[in-house]
Amino acid sequence: MSNGAAPSRTGPSSWLGGAGAVTPNLTVNIAPSHPAGLMLRNPVLAASGTFGYGIEFAGLVDIQRLGAIVCKGTTLQPRVGNPPPRTVETAAGMLNSIGLQNVGVQAVIEQYAPQWAAWTVPVLVNIAGESVADFARLAALLDGVPGVAALEVNISCPNSAAGGTYFGQDPDMAAAVTRAVRDATDLPTVVKLTPNVTDIQPVALAVEAAGAHALSLVNTFNGLALDVRQRAPRLGQGAGGLSGPAIKPLAVALVARVAEVATVPIIGIGGISAGEDALEFILAGASAVQVGTMHFANPRASVDVLDGVVAWLRRHRIASVAELTGCGHPMLAVRERAVVDATAAGLR
Ligand SMILES: Cc1cc2nc3c(=O)[nH]c(=O)nc-3n(C[C@H](O)[C@H](O)[C@H](O)COP(=O)(O)O)c2cc1C
Repeated sequence: MSNGAAPSRTGPSSWLGGAGAVTPNLTVNIAPSHPAGLMLRNPVLAASGTFGYGIEFAGLVDIQRLGAIVCKGTTLQPRVGNPPPRTVETAAGMLNSIGLQNVGVQAVIEQYAPQWAAWTVPVLVNIAGESVADFARLAALLDGVPGVAALEVNISCPNSAAGGTYFGQDPDMAAAVTRAVRDATDLPTVVKLTPNVTDIQPVALAVEAAGAHALSLVNTFNGLALDVRQRAPRLGQGAGGLSGPAIKPLAVALVARVAEVATVPIIGIGGISAGEDALEFILAGASAVQVGTMHFANPRASVDVLDGVVAWLRRHRIASVAELTGCGHPMLAVRERAVVDATAAGLR
């Protein structure tokens, strides 16, 4: 896993002197393999579909403090989405079936990107398609648009040419989308993985080999909630995607699993509501995190998570957040320690 500078996995090496007056270095490069990189001022992003286009939150919270904002999933044509109800509360989480309601790429380019261009916080456009060609077209249209800092490619969408199998559930299809996007744009490209697979590693490896600059994970887990009195699904569409604190341990485990094989940075997502949640993902191997569902309970959630991360780093006198990536991952730490021991013994 790479974060610009090589992270230590056995433990942070530089410590803040004094009683925490120094501000920790929060910067992270989430696309070090891209010629220009994608340097963020801090590792806390707002997740797609939970923060609108950023603009809706501008009056509620200082959005410019965030590491980045990922906008609502964007398709070639505007979409009206699924029938209501589209969200239901579940134990420690929520189930949604929005159906990618969005304004379409042209409106993003004409209405939102000009506003983003005046911001200091970078905006990643989350793109979704029904075919490889859709993704390529979206990437080409967004290429070079001022205000668009990078793409996040949502491969948790059904491939209409493959009977509705999700692109992200098949390593070859996931790689084909990634390659098509990379060929169509010079923008840094983050590929967002679905957790709804038997093994996430082959998909992560395939999209990395196809040119992804970073991986974000996870999208929502397949879920179903039934109303026992009505004897019917609680969502208008039937099944949906589970998110929120309920999924956090599942998501952390998947980040740790991808960290074992990925060399590009990982952005961890799933149930983050506090600074320590974000740090769990970072210790498991993430370089940055996204906050999603908690925005529905607290519009300030991502800024609160950021404040929590900073307070924790100060309390533990850690100089740079990047040093923590992978430090709590048992396998990565053991591997690093083996290298250190072998070097000390003159075996390497
Ligand atoms: C209402 C809602 C809408 C979402 N829309 C999108 C979307 O358009 N594109 C996408 O890639 N992920 C979308 N997601 C998934 C989130 O970005 C995130 O990956 C997921 O919710 C897990 O994080 P969380 O537990 O912090 O919410 C959506 C999630 C929710 C709850």
